[in-house]
Amino acid sequence: MLSYRHAFHAGVHADVFKHLILSLLVRSLLHKDKPFFYLDTHAGAGRYNLGSEMARKNREYETGIGRLWNEASPPEAVRDYLAAVRTINPGRELRWYPGSPRIVRSFLRPRDRMVLCELHPNEARLLSAEFAGDRQVRVEPLDGYQRLKALLPPPERRGLVLIDPAYELKDERRRLLDAIKEGYTRWASGIFAVWYPIQDRAMADDLVRRFKRLNIPKVLLAEFTVLPNKPFRLNGSGMIVINPPWRLDEQLNEALPWLWKRLAIEGQGGFRVEWLAGEQTIAAKGKGFG
Ligand SMILES: C[S@@+](CC[C@H](N)C(=O)[O-])C[C@H]1O[C@@H](n2cnc3c(N)ncnc32)[C@H](O)[C@@H]1O
Repeated sequence: MLSYRHAFHAGVHADVFKHLILSLLVRSLLHKDKPFFYLDTHAGAGRYNLGSEMARKNREYETGIGRLWNEASPPEAVRDYLAAVRTINPGRELRWYPGSPRIVRSFLRPRDRMVLCELHPNEARLLSAEFAGDRQVRVEPLDGYQRLKALLPPPERRGLVLIDPAYELKDERRRLLDAIKEGYTRWASGIFAVWYPIQDRAMADDLVRRFKRLNIPKVLLAEFTVLPNKPFRLNGSGMIVINPPWRLDEQLNEALPWLWKRLAIEGQGGFRVEWLAGEQTIAAKGKGFG
């Protein structure tokens, strides 16, 4: 039984970190004229009303997007992300937070396309309504792990897969790693971005260790935390990027210190950007990851 509802957490620091990287990845796909394909295996509702009861319960967005909304001159690497948030908030007030589907939709050119998988019936219904009549978007109320196997490689041969589970099921990590392995085998040139929570440091490290055993040759990892390691709290999150575009490491080295200064709670937590495999050019360790 799925019970996770992203509306409680929309716009929290982990969403900001994830969607900032997502924006950089999609932007990199616009450098060539050839169309690209985007698959969101765990898409959520698509957009979130920050005035809703769920969002107002813990007001998590105030620890994330709420602190950036009025930033007048963010660094280059953060601009696209903030522009995507502003696209669905045309007024001066921050009312909506875009989920990953809405963020990516704001970049699509007429021949690009996206498939969004969402298994929770309520979320799937909202997602379908959000993109009703949009011919570039297909919503599938199905298991994203299974669809990943069926949809790869896409005919476009270029694009991005976001795997962003809620980690609420016991065997989630095994299913996730199996899906990555299968997806990469089918489409070794695709970009895959895999988000994970940092609640308990040991659990996050274990996931990264198990991922490394897949022996995928080009992988960048980024982590961002706003609190020190304390179990049962969302201290931060990480993103594993397979086949990262050129200069993603540099862009993150520009964006994350700026982000951390604004979102860290009393100067705690930190960030790191590290090659797990391949490249080994520059990588940065921020505060908290000495
Ligand atoms: C963290 S939320 C997604 C947030 C979204 N990617 C974003 O960034 O806006 C995870 C979503 O995955 C859905 N979900 C859980 N298991 C799934 C599965 N096997 N296939 C598709 N969706 C699933 C949950 O219902 C939930 O809405």
